[in-house]
Amino acid sequence: MKLNSPHINIINKACMKASRSLIRDFGEIENLQVSSKGPGDFVTAADKRTEKIIIEELQKAHPDYGILSEEKGVINKENEKNKWIIDPIDGTMNFLNGIPQFAISIAYEENNEIKCGVIFDPIKNEMFYAEKGNGAYLNNSRIRVSNKKKLKDSLIVTGGPKYSSKIKSEIFEEYVKVSNYIHLPIRKYGSAALDLAYVACGRFDGYWQRELNYWDIAAGIVILREAGGLLAFFELDKNTPLKKNILASNSNIHEELSNLILKKNIE
Ligand code: IPD
Ligand code: CA
Ligand code: CA
Repeated sequence: MKLNSPHINIINKACMKASRSLIRDFGEIENLQVSSKGPGDFVTAADKRTEKIIIEELQKAHPDYGILSEEKGVINKENEKNKWIIDPIDGTMNFLNGIPQFAISIAYEENNEIKCGVIFDPIKNEMFYAEKGNGAYLNNSRIRVSNKKKLKDSLIVTGGPKYSSKIKSEIFEEYVKVSNYIHLPIRKYGSAALDLAYVACGRFDGYWQRELNYWDIAAGIVILREAGGLLAFFELDKNTPLKKNILASNSNIHEELSNLILKKNIE
């Protein structure tokens, strides 16, 4: 680890511990896929197991900190100042299908500002991390967003919509509009956290997605910004305050990508 931040060290320890059981569980998926029941219940249990290990480790260091975690919800609600934001498995659908594209995502927030974040892909052993003001890293190397100048040369990633989305058809229309524009190549990798991390290290040039939750992106936000990327939130569904619509990219293509996604009738 390049950064010597106490909070990152705590998160790192929690990730390493949780990932041991997560890797074991992932190894079981192949057997369960051929069983008649399928791996659904097992994956739910793996998600909860991973979350439990993470929370225990984080609480060992700071029992009083607030927590927002996908499965458990809110812990220590009264502590508004210090907060962990946890997604124990981001990319559950991939995990469930034995596809090695998922990650643990943990961020630390102080006075409502994200101070640091870690996204750990336990299968590829890739740890993306950043602390505000101190740059972003992948394992021991500094990372930066790509330097592509034009959208027409870019590779873009997106995700969703979720099956429960009320605006599913709008999201599909938007996807078609974006992919038709200068035949832009678009990927869907199924893990919002890794999508953001991949923009941060230049594998993708841009990312957009609607209807995300805070735990999907909290760590990715600080990693992307510290890697020199630009981020915009745009609102669509005002009635669901926890949901986030996000657009992230290198600074060169940000305006072009924002115009394409946010303007209704682009040629
Ligand atoms: C999901 C993934 C996926 C995104 C979904 C998220 P989960 O998180 O990040 O890429 O498209 O919107 O909910 O359910 O795997 O933790
Ligand atoms: Ca998630
Ligand atoms: Ca999850």
